[in-house]
This record gives sequence, structure tokens and C-alpha cells, in this order.
Amino acid sequence: MPKGKAAKAAAIAAARVSTSVAANAEFVERARVAAEYENVSNRSAANTSFAAGEASPYPTPRASPASPANQQPIDWLTVQGANLHNLQNVTANIPLKRLVAVTGVSGSGKSTLARDVLLTNVQVAVQKRSTKAGRDALDAGEKIQWTGCEGVTGFESIDRVLEVDQTPIGKTPRSCPATYIGFWDTIRKLFADTLEAKARGYAANRFSFNTGEGRCPGCEGQGIRTIGMSFLPDVKVLCETCKGARFNPETQAVSWRGKNIGDVLQMEVDEAVDFFAAMPVIAHPLQLLKDVGLGYLTLGQPSPTLSGGEAQRIKLVTELSKVRDDIGKRGNKAPHTLYVLDEPTVGLHMADVEKLIRVLHRLVNGGHSVVVIEHDLDVIAEADWVIDLGPDGGNAGGQVVAAATPEAVVQLGTHTGVALAAVLAR
Ligand SMILES: Nc1ncnc2c1ncn2[C@@H]1O[C@H](COP(=O)(O)OP(=O)(O)OP(=O)(O)O)[C@@H](O)[C@H]1O
Ligand SMILES: [Mg+2]
Ligand SMILES: [Zn+2]
Repeated sequence: MPKGKAAKAAAIAAARVSTSVAANAEFVERARVAAEYENVSNRSAANTSFAAGEASPYPTPRASPASPANQQPIDWLTVQGANLHNLQNVTANIPLKRLVAVTGVSGSGKSTLARDVLLTNVQVAVQKRSTKAGRDALDAGEKIQWTGCEGVTGFESIDRVLEVDQTPIGKTPRSCPATYIGFWDTIRKLFADTLEAKARGYAANRFSFNTGEGRCPGCEGQGIRTIGMSFLPDVKVLCETCKGARFNPETQAVSWRGKNIGDVLQMEVDEAVDFFAAMPVIAHPLQLLKDVGLGYLTLGQPSPTLSGGEAQRIKLVTELSKVRDDIGKRGNKAPHTLYVLDEPTVGLHMADVEKLIRVLHRLVNGGHSVVVIEHDLDVIAEADWVIDLGPDGGNAGGQVVAAATPEAVVQLGTHTGVALAAVLAR
């Protein structure tokens, strides 16, 4: 099959025409004409371009088999006329409850579109709709003040918007994975429920390293002491009283299955999964941590010492553990969350990228929408839908050059498509 420059240009032009279609329903209808996809390359080869009224060359966004969104009509979130920074009057259609990758060369406008325009505006819209007064005002015809674009439609089904970034999960060393994700409280109750604790009259707060009588007085539960040095940076040394255990000897005298609370804090996630296997409320988030490649962290590692990538995955685990809670609450529909992630794979090892992809799919399978800005070809290849910006960086970018499934982006031959071809061929 010939693939000339003209053919590529025609396909890219077709992509532009179709992504600028304003009417949502129309776009969905066209996208559904999946059979048309078969003809894309042939038509492009014959150098025919698609007129605005013609069927879209795009197949329907994929849905993973486990997704409840599968088989249901696709809802589209649409950003119209985005013109912030280098964006050139961009209209982007984002299928909800799917894994959507925003791609393109550096400086093409990915962060501008996904964060500065999409995230910012949907946040405002969702906030407005979250109160009765706000909904009434919108119903009465009040217009939302959009920033960086002409408008956004299709946000009504979204309950919550969240950016999962790599900023630290806590600035104080009093925060750690166990407290951030929230299962530390359950572990404290577990210790308070032991016969030994009851005999001593210890309640759950006794097993806190942040407050109360249970913690080591020498370091106030931090395990380390900070020594201020004049003219020099502070020095951190292991607490000589507790040797890093963070609790006082009386508290450490209480044990559950042979471990005291200080041991648990120093336990690695991998070990803790087995140790708490009989306690699903604790074991489930631990297993999720393991699933995303964080099995080597200790439960009590101070948050400020976590890397950006680790912090980001802990945030994802926190969200994933909620997905299960939501399903557990009978009758309550899980709040549909739109997650936006800007390059979550930065700094990740290849094996961890694979794990991250699985987490993103799980969020989608839990009924959520995920928009991920990515350069990583493995992530892009796994997306249900790709919004490719370009063609180049800065003023030479800022346009949607493809909006399609990964396979179709390859056919369209954009920079991303060319790079993606090899990955999809594997
Ligand atoms: N606050 C700003 N003011 C003016 N121009 C900006 C601003 N932020 C970004 N730009 C410009 O807009 C263009 C798109 O930037 P953006 O950050 O969206 O790119 P990107 O696709 O996310 O790139 P990268 O992959 O490097 O993160 C770039 O040319 C950038 O210089
Ligand atoms: Mg960026
Ligand atoms: Zn101490």
C-alpha cells in the first residue's frame, strides 16, 4: 500500500476537519462508523480528503473488556476554541471513562491543553455544579467564565477533577505512606484490641507516633533528631533513646502476631502484605502499593524523602483504594472522577511503567476518566484514545494533528504515529 506524503497530509487534514466538528452527538455518530476505518489508508492513498460531511475515519475509542463503560454510549467532553499560549483555536473531544493520552513533541501544547485549559475549566464547572445554588444559576442561564477557550461541554457527568502530580505528599516527616493512604488508623486499632493493650489500658491513640504518650519522648516520635548547627545546615541523627523505633518501651511491649507497632512502621510493604493478609482493610491498599512497584518502601518512610514518582504512585494508590470503597458502599454510585496526569512515567523504570499502565486501566475500569500527558510510547500504545498535538513545538504546534486510537494514529503518520508504529508492531 503506497504511503506518499500527499496521502499523509490528506489524512492529517481529515483529522483536523473531524476534530473541529462542534456537535458532540454528530461526532460520536461518526466515530461509531468503525467500518470506515478499514478504508482510511486506501482512501488516503488515493489522495482523497474527507469533506466535513463525510464519515469520520476514526474507529470508536477502545474500551478494555472489564470496563463498565464498554457497550455503553460514549460521552464526550469537548473543549472548544482553545487559544491559550500556542494553541491555535483547538477543539478537542475527549471520550469519558476511557484512558486518553495527550501526545506530541515538546512544546506542542500538551500541558497547556490538558492542564491549563481542560483541568482548570472542568474544575470550575464541577465546582459550580457541586452546590444547589450553582446548579440553579446554570439552569437559569448563567454562563461560566471560561479561561483560555470558548467553552467546554459534556462535563455534567463528572463529579470530581483531580490532578495526580509528582509534588510531595507531605512536607512534615510526620506523614508517611501508611498515614497518607489512611490504613494506619486501622493498624493502631488492631494493636489497641490486643489483650496486652487492654490490660494496660491503651487505646488506639497510644499507638500514634505523632501525638500522645506512646511515642518516644526523645525524638517526639520522629525516630531521628535534628540538631541545629550555627552557620551550618541542620544535622539529622538517629534518636539515641528509641534507636529509630519512634515509640517508647511500654508501647513497644504490646505486640500483634509477634511484632510491635514500631516494627510494623519499619516493615516493608512486601512483607506487610503477607503479615496483614487476614485483615483485608489493611492488606488491600498494601497490595495496591505492591502492584505499582512500591513493595520496597517501608510503611513509615517519611513523606518528604519520597521521590516524585513514588509520591505520585502513592496518590494513585490512595485513589484506587477509594474505588473499592465506593463500590463497597451499597447504593452509592462511585463519584466519576476525571484524573489528569502530566508525564507520570518520568523517572520510572520500564517495569514500573508497565505497573503504572495497569493502575490507569484500573481507574478506568472503576468507572473513571483518565487523561494522561505522555511521551512514553508504551503508555500511548495502551491508551483507548490519543489526542496528538503538533505538528511541531511552539508556534509551529498548537493544533490537533490526530484524534484517534493508537492504531489509527500510526495510519495518520504524525510524528507520534511514526514513533508508535514500531511499538504497536511488537
Ligand atoms: N505561561 C506561558 N506563557 C507563554 N507561553 C507559554 C506559557 N506556558 C507555555 N507556553 C508556551 O506554549 C507552548 C506549549 O507549551 P506546553 O507547556 O503546553 O508544551 P508541552 O507540549 O507540554 O511540552 P513538554 O512536552 O515539553 O512539556 C510552548 O511553546 C511554551 O513555550
Ligand atoms: Mg508539558
Ligand atoms: Zn526516639
